[in-house]
Amino acid sequence: MTRPIPVLTIDGPSGSGKGTISRAVAQRLGWHYLDSGAIYRAVGLAAAWEGLDLSDGESIATCAARTEIRFITDGEGEPHVIVNGKDATRSLRTESAGAAASAIAAHPPVRAALVDLQLRFRAKPGLVADGRDMGTVIFPDAPYKVFLTASAAERAKRRYKQLKDKGVSVNLDSLLHEIAARDERDAGRAVAPLKPASDAVILDSTGVPITEVIERVLAVLPASLQPR
Ligand code: C5P
Repeated sequence: MTRPIPVLTIDGPSGSGKGTISRAVAQRLGWHYLDSGAIYRAVGLAAAWEGLDLSDGESIATCAARTEIRFITDGEGEPHVIVNGKDATRSLRTESAGAAASAIAAHPPVRAALVDLQLRFRAKPGLVADGRDMGTVIFPDAPYKVFLTASAAERAKRRYKQLKDKGVSVNLDSLLHEIAARDERDAGRAVAPLKPASDAVILDSTGVPITEVIERVLAVLPASLQPR
């Protein structure tokens, strides 16, 4: 009997440190990495490029189906996202791309159009899947699930630092406001709302250094899968 390819899902709200932690965990394990948020951001961006109405679920779903999204790593090991042939890495990280992603992600046909693309990331030797519904909807059979959270104030501060370091000018108060609004929209939507899977380990990273959070996530895996 062939054993299923292991998946570790890491879900949680924006700014919980999911991206950094999931990438680091995938690297330590030598597993593939799925940044599902980048997929929703890419579709939001492609829809904006086409001048589509973000509230029109059916036309965004058609756009999602024809949008070509590629994840590549450059010579320096930096990840890039190519959307319809254009390097969109920088634009995808902006708050407006996050807000567009959250708006289009609320439409059931859009989510349905992106399921197969996400499932295809499950490949040997394993997958770390980062998102909102990885453990609940996309990989409900994943044997290892984490729900990573942190206080809204801490998440806003982290995001502020992250954006400032990237040279993007932001205001902490408006960031806190945007994060709270996005949390509410993501948790309140009817389809695939942000919530921990019933079998997820909940980790609160408020005040915990990243290196320690990485160790706590890795501790969810059995000894046989621990990195050496
Ligand atoms: O994780 P990230 O901030 O890049 O996600 C952007 C937005 O995409 C989220 O606010 C959420 O609305 C949506 N998203 C989602 N399901 C996922 C990943 C992201 O609905 N699995």
